[in-house]
Amino acid sequence: MSNITVIGAGYVGLVTAACFAEMGNSVACVDIDEAKVGFLRRGIVDLYEPQLEPLVQRNMQSGRLSFTTDIRDTDPSPDFVFVCVGTPLNGDRIDLTYVYTAFTSLAGFLAASAARVVIKSTVPPGTSKEMAALLSRMRNAKGVQPVVSNPEFLREGRAVHDFQNPNRIIIGATDACAAEAVADLYRQVNAPLIMTDPSTAELIKLASNAFLATKISFINQVAALCESVGADVTELAQGMGFDHRIGRDFLDAGVGYGGSCLPKDTQAMTELMVAHGLQPWLLQHVMRINGEQPLRLVDKLEHALGGLAGRRIAVLGLAFKPNTDDIRCAPAISLINELQFRGAEVRGCDPVAWNRAAYAFRGQVQCLHDPYVAAQGCDAVVLATEWPQFLGMDLHRLAQEMSRPILVDGRNSIDPEKAQEAGFTYIGVGRSRLPAPAKNQAAITERGELVHVESSK
Ligand SMILES: NC(=O)c1ccc[n+]([C@@H]2O[C@H](COP(=O)([O-])OP(=O)(O)OC[C@H]3O[C@@H](n4cnc5c(N)ncnc54)[C@H](O)[C@@H]3O)[C@@H](O)[C@H]2O)c1
Repeated sequence: MSNITVIGAGYVGLVTAACFAEMGNSVACVDIDEAKVGFLRRGIVDLYEPQLEPLVQRNMQSGRLSFTTDIRDTDPSPDFVFVCVGTPLNGDRIDLTYVYTAFTSLAGFLAASAARVVIKSTVPPGTSKEMAALLSRMRNAKGVQPVVSNPEFLREGRAVHDFQNPNRIIIGATDACAAEAVADLYRQVNAPLIMTDPSTAELIKLASNAFLATKISFINQVAALCESVGADVTELAQGMGFDHRIGRDFLDAGVGYGGSCLPKDTQAMTELMVAHGLQPWLLQHVMRINGEQPLRLVDKLEHALGGLAGRRIAVLGLAFKPNTDDIRCAPAISLINELQFRGAEVRGCDPVAWNRAAYAFRGQVQCLHDPYVAAQGCDAVVLATEWPQFLGMDLHRLAQEMSRPILVDGRNSIDPEKAQEAGFTYIGVGRSRLPAPAKNQAAITERGELVHVESSK
């Protein structure tokens, strides 16, 4: 078993630390955020991620997982160091300040035995090489200490599951021994292993997210066409998705993509192309379509209400997706800003992220956790995040709370017929036609298998 230091205790770092500890390794996790570390030392996880808190607690109790704000409290000769700090956008580019700071503190601390240093943060190609040079320079080492790239693909809301069951493990290294050592850490994980050079590994991460963003913008553009020709994008996506070359995932039309990764990584890849003299036309349009998607929904609502000034609107879902409290670049934020800009009085609602959002809006938006309370006296509700709590709402009760029952389904997740039965005017994305009553509807299971669902009609 290995001694591992993880730098950064956010969504990626904390999951990495807890999961490596669960595999039997001894893990010290360092974060500069004193409040966060204070909570973690008491076994409290300050972010919402299913399964994570019990995993952290269990491994702390077994003595395999510890937290500190100071790297000097950790083993100076660990076998591995995983850098998992944030890499936010600064303007159009990925800001590597936190990565630089982490490597600078490492350079001054690591004992000569030299651990395998691994970058898990999402970084532009060339960063591992740059950090390897920085480490060697600062440590006056002869030759360059290799830094391995091991990008992370977990999804918030399923982070622990994804770390333990990844669909691939990417290891980018110039040094075969270092690559093998990192690969060996994952020996308990059953997933395809791709060994490559660091720049390719780094670019695999950016290109993967840019591609997912492209899929979403593609289907959103097709949804607009569906509205013009009277087609239904949900059935269209199902029809396309059975083609394995296309795949059904990420073909859900809606309010657009958000979160801390897709917008940032698509922008970063665009900027990278520009920096290398290439024309990033495709990705520029992907981002543009995504930026317009919330506005299209607001346009529809404005049209339905005959104006938004003075209207009371509840936005259901503030996190960028269900099962997380992460509101970074959440489409709900763009929706709320636009609704307010056009004069509406907006309430936000989220079963988990309501508190975080209230803080982010600095009191400018009332944020609640109960959809029925949020809908009271409203002229419309807009579903921005498909939390199970919202999909299971009693639509009759919801409609009764409102002064005018209009439902804008920004995730195409509510049955239009049920909404209409409950008295709602239903507005979806790319669903100008209500689904035809079908005796036998095709559906795809999570495993991608075709099943036939008997219609209740
Ligand atoms: N969140 C995701 O779903 C996800 C998925 C895959 C990859 N990534 C990538 O992983 C990286 C981390 O993302 P995240 O969502 O975990 O970010 P985050 O903001 O949740 O966490 C980053 C943590 O790093 C800490 N930190 C910053 N500088 C530090 C330093 N010098 N020493 C110790 N701690 C430091 C911060 O205090 C923070 O707690 C990013 O590059 C991101 O793009 C994120």
